[in-house]
Amino acid sequence: MNKDASPSSDDQPLPRHVAIVMDGNGRWALRRRLPRAAGHRAGIKSVRAIVEESVRQGIQALTLFAFSSENWHRPKSEVNLLMDLFMGTLRSEVNRLSEHGVRLRIIGERAAFPEKLRQRVAEVEKVTSANEAMLLQVAANYGGRWDIVQAARRLVADARAGRIAPEDVDEGIFSTRLSFPDLPDPDLFIRTGGEQRISNFLLWQSAYSEFYFSDLMWPDFDALAYREALADFAGRQRRFGLTGDQASIRAANGTS
Ligand code: FPP
Repeated sequence: MNKDASPSSDDQPLPRHVAIVMDGNGRWALRRRLPRAAGHRAGIKSVRAIVEESVRQGIQALTLFAFSSENWHRPKSEVNLLMDLFMGTLRSEVNRLSEHGVRLRIIGERAAFPEKLRQRVAEVEKVTSANEAMLLQVAANYGGRWDIVQAARRLVADARAGRIAPEDVDEGIFSTRLSFPDLPDPDLFIRTGGEQRISNFLLWQSAYSEFYFSDLMWPDFDALAYREALADFAGRQRRFGLTGDQASIRAANGTS
């Protein structure tokens, strides 16, 4: 995948990788006196709209936070509904994903999911594996701390087996053991629903992400709202710890 910033169709800097915390389904429903389930169902429509708009814009990777490690503690009926929605969406959307050239990958601890869901995930990943327009990562039973701990475990196992010397471990090596070492870190991290926190999403990978918080509830976050977020991103100067002047020179040389 291209590790340099990609220009958009109208030559604005475009994030290569966008990560989104899709928050606010429950409140969207409660405000309409609907059950929370209706909010999650409405949220699927936004998922579709944002995936399609991402492809149209030329985004290379989109990572959506669908189910966190902590979401298991919600009422059982809501957990079951989210599993059913996930299963049903994978079934109903697979052709659409392929029509748009989207490859699907699930990140997170799959072992906790029902066997049928695990099989369905593996199938959709296989069917879409040759698609090249965009990679859609759905984070399911994912937590940023979990990701860091599983990377540490892999490194310890490698050290024990003599494949790596502890003194050789650095940030670069560490990040190869995280969930998606083949992608650039998210350039843009969006959270809907009005809250301004990371909620244990991509802790390591968002170290230099630009954050964008929208007051819209996820079911109301449409292509227009997304384009506003992309335009906001295009106006930011990313400094990566440098001075403004240094960052401008790096950006002009295409090295940011
Ligand atoms: C947060 O809203 C949303 C979730 C926990 C689930 C998001 C899932 C979907 C949109 C559907 C499945 C997605 C895919 C990719 C198949 P919340 O319930 O925390 O809202 P609240 O903060 O208003 O209560």
